[in-house]
Amino acid sequence: MNIDIIKQAEEFVRTELGEDATGHDWFHVDRVRQNALFIYNKERTGNPFIIELAALLHDIPDEKLNESAAKGEEKLESFLQSLPLDTVAKNAIKDIIDSISFKGGQTDELPSIEAKIVQDADRLDAIGAIGIARAFAYGGKKGQQIYHPAIQVREVMTREEYRKGKSTSINHFYEKLLKLTSLLNTETARKMAESRQKIVITFLDQFFQEWNGTHNENAHS
Ligand code: ADP
Ligand code: NI
Repeated sequence: MNIDIIKQAEEFVRTELGEDATGHDWFHVDRVRQNALFIYNKERTGNPFIIELAALLHDIPDEKLNESAAKGEEKLESFLQSLPLDTVAKNAIKDIIDSISFKGGQTDELPSIEAKIVQDADRLDAIGAIGIARAFAYGGKKGQQIYHPAIQVREVMTREEYRKGKSTSINHFYEKLLKLTSLLNTETARKMAESRQKIVITFLDQFFQEWNGTHNENAHS
């Protein structure tokens, strides 16, 4: 029966997010599910069915992908109501999804080990080569520049500023992506993050060398 619920959730997410171009498409969701199950298999803690279902549904109520936060909540709620799940499981899923968003860096205590694992899985997909690709996809879609030297990296920001303020995709690496590794909850995710963090740092280093024209000099020396 759980397998049927997973299949239904896959179907629902494909329909809702399939071709999103802000980095939240079906393939993002599928990677988060795979990362989450990988972490579960290493850590052997939490309920794998809850982890998988929450991972599949984690972007459904996202405010950015819906007309409003309330509409997003409704969408998740009505899908959960259609499933043959008990109230405890439904509430667990909702609590996980509600708690894991980054929202400018506020670090609320997460409600469960399942939430910690799904949050780690989602964060891993925002760093590494995929994370780099997603940042520029998101930035382009939002009409944000790749980089502008006059736009400062914001050190502290409210949730509203994080969403609405003017920034660049390169600044986003400093405002969020480079901070994610130290915010991970599980040892397994921290290991998985190592090579991802490295490639982001290498990428930024070369980006600025090319931007400043020092890359060519280095290549000749
Ligand atoms: P969260 O909901 O956890 O804050 P998002 O859903 O906003 O994360 O992020 C989805 C993807 O888009 C991530 O890979 C993230 O790095 C990227 N992204 C989010 N905001 C920006 C931004 N201002 N500039 C570039 N990329 C961004
Ligand atoms: Ni996500």
